[in-house]
Amino acid sequence: MAVEKTYLMIKPDGVRNRHIGEIINRFERAGLSLERLELGLVTDEQAKANYAEHEGKPFYAGLISYITSGTVVKMVVSGEGAVSKCRQLMGATDPSSAAPGTIRGDFGLIMDENVIHGSDSTESAAREIGIFFS
Ligand code: RTP
Ligand code: MG
Repeated sequence: MAVEKTYLMIKPDGVRNRHIGEIINRFERAGLSLERLELGLVTDEQAKANYAEHEGKPFYAGLISYITSGTVVKMVVSGEGAVSKCRQLMGATDPSSAAPGTIRGDFGLIMDENVIHGSDSTESAAREIGIFFS
């Protein structure tokens, strides 16, 4: 498997509930490396670019307002198969069906506040890294 980079973002609930250290620890323990790391806010423009694929869906407006509502942790992580490895560590989108031992399974409660975002393909990763670390 090839070495890949992926974009990860601990969402406002993950920061507010003090899960930053535990989440980063899980990626490092899985053999992945942090390439970039930044604490800060997401602009409306960045949120809309990141979630462009969801424009027009019923949850879109709430998603944009949520991701811009508080401090997040923006990260670029690299390693063998980093995109799918990170998605596995994150767990299913809906925390109520995410497996125990995954980040969303352990720290998430509801679909709208599901702790972490991660790129879903190497193409998305390149695009998202450009949005947040240009
Ligand atoms: P993310 O992009 O945040 O990593 O999440 P994901 O790939 O697992 O899920 P995605 O389909 O890209 O959805 C983005 C975020 O929108 C919210 N969502 N709500 N109510 C709904 O049906 C619904 N579907 C998606 C979730 O917060 C999800 O993380
Ligand atoms: Mg997604």
